[in-house]
Amino acid sequence: MLRPFYITTAIDYANGSPHLGHAYEKVLTDVISRHLRMSGRQVHFLTGLDEHGQKVQQTALKRDLEPQVLVDEVAAVFQRMLVDLDISHDDYIRTTEPRHQKVVQQFLQKLFDQGLIYKGQKTDWYSTRQEQFLTERDRSPDGSWPEIYGEVTQTTEENYYFKLSQFQPWLIEHLRAHPDFITPRFRQNQVLEFLKDPLNDLCISRPKTRLTWGIALPFDDAYVTYVWFDALTNYYSAVAAKGLWPADVHVIGKDILSPPHAVYWPCMLKALGLEPPRQLLVHGWWTVNNQKASKSAGNAADTLGFVASHGADAFRYYLCREMVVGQDADFSKTTFENRYKADLGNNLGNLVNRLLNMVGRNYAGAIPAAAADEELERNLRQLWQDTVRKYDAAFAEYQLSHALESLWVFISAMNAYIEARAPWKLAKSTDLADRARLDSCLAHVAEGLRLVGTILTPVMPATCGRLLTHIGRPVPAGFEGQLVWSAACTGSKVAENCILFPQIGVPGETPAG
Ligand code: ME8
Ligand code: MG
Repeated sequence: MLRPFYITTAIDYANGSPHLGHAYEKVLTDVISRHLRMSGRQVHFLTGLDEHGQKVQQTALKRDLEPQVLVDEVAAVFQRMLVDLDISHDDYIRTTEPRHQKVVQQFLQKLFDQGLIYKGQKTDWYSTRQEQFLTERDRSPDGSWPEIYGEVTQTTEENYYFKLSQFQPWLIEHLRAHPDFITPRFRQNQVLEFLKDPLNDLCISRPKTRLTWGIALPFDDAYVTYVWFDALTNYYSAVAAKGLWPADVHVIGKDILSPPHAVYWPCMLKALGLEPPRQLLVHGWWTVNNQKASKSAGNAADTLGFVASHGADAFRYYLCREMVVGQDADFSKTTFENRYKADLGNNLGNLVNRLLNMVGRNYAGAIPAAAADEELERNLRQLWQDTVRKYDAAFAEYQLSHALESLWVFISAMNAYIEARAPWKLAKSTDLADRARLDSCLAHVAEGLRLVGTILTPVMPATCGRLLTHIGRPVPAGFEGQLVWSAACTGSKVAENCILFPQIGVPGETPAG
């Protein structure tokens, strides 16, 4: 038996509220996980919270709280978001948990014992906002630090360093040998470009005089470990007892690819004699109304209001449909409402209702068997075959937006098919051939909707469950045997009507967060 597919999200910083970027990454990972599970693969989906570091300590201090009290509060808020978004994770790791701290200390001790950690004094530039050391080449051409780093401070102190530079040749070789290690591929090329310059060793400690909120170095209690060393280890510590390493995919945003995930993490693992993860899936950034989405701007938190007003499924659909994985995307009220009305309400929702009405009115609620088979029907079935193929191919590359795009081509074709068949006219005809056409029309739309409801379940689980139930079909546990055109709907009793996507009285300019 195949081992479970182990997939992770980044663990969110516990120093703020959840926002669109956090929500998106969970949804993307959730849709992939659900799709794989329905495809018959066992999945282990990990997400969690990054609870140590300077920023958390500062926030706790400002609010006059113990850091642990603060992170407990924050964890509850982030976990609430997972419930609201219908995320199906299998585990949630918090870096303050003993199971994690223990492994971080084991890692540190092992590297220390191998002589891969040494003490030294260097001058470093540090961005607290990104919790990241910077080098001269991180500066803008004009010598300033790019805005994303926030305030950058220079520190000179004794610290412990991991011999990262020693692993540079191995890492370059590994990337060359695994061209799909980082997807999309242009990101891998960027990392290789970055690796043309020599790497510095990585400072992995903070003196407790400056930072106490962290995991103590097992070999020197005067220090805690650097938050990235701590955070990256979560992917391993969470499954250490389960034997699930290596991870199949780490889903992350582009800002934390290089150096943390593309350089530090594989080199740490190599030094520890562990396998690197199989793949990094790197998504782009959401902007909101074409402005950078950020905690400080607050705009990205507001977008989560659409979950409450339009439902998790509509939100999930929008995020997956609107962002081409790997590229940036913009969230706006207008595009959200357009997709909700056009794609979901008019294209899909109305189609369901048309079917339910006509089956109710003409067949006492029982879906007829397909009696006539003409070119229109053959074309629709052929289109489904093409659609499933395209959908699968897009999903295999995690290109959810392309998968959904092709699925909506099929849904539009079903609407066009109804228009062409004009069942409301057929219903008035006394010609037996017309009655056969009417049978077929409703049978085909029902079957098409069953297929759509099935394949779309990972994206909109609750809505698809309702769709299938309303056309009298059980919600299948998996795709096996369920995605081929069949007569499964014949005789199924449909519900009277079904509002999958109600019209929403639109709140103000920005929905309440
Ligand atoms: O980076 N659009 O945490 P984080 C898309 N704790 N994705 C976004 C985004 C946006 N506007 N803003 C943030 C951290 N993200 C570390 C990770 S992993 C061992 C440690 C993504 O809360 C971001 O790219 O700042 C990252 O993948 C995730 O949200 C958490 O960001
Ligand atoms: Mg961040």
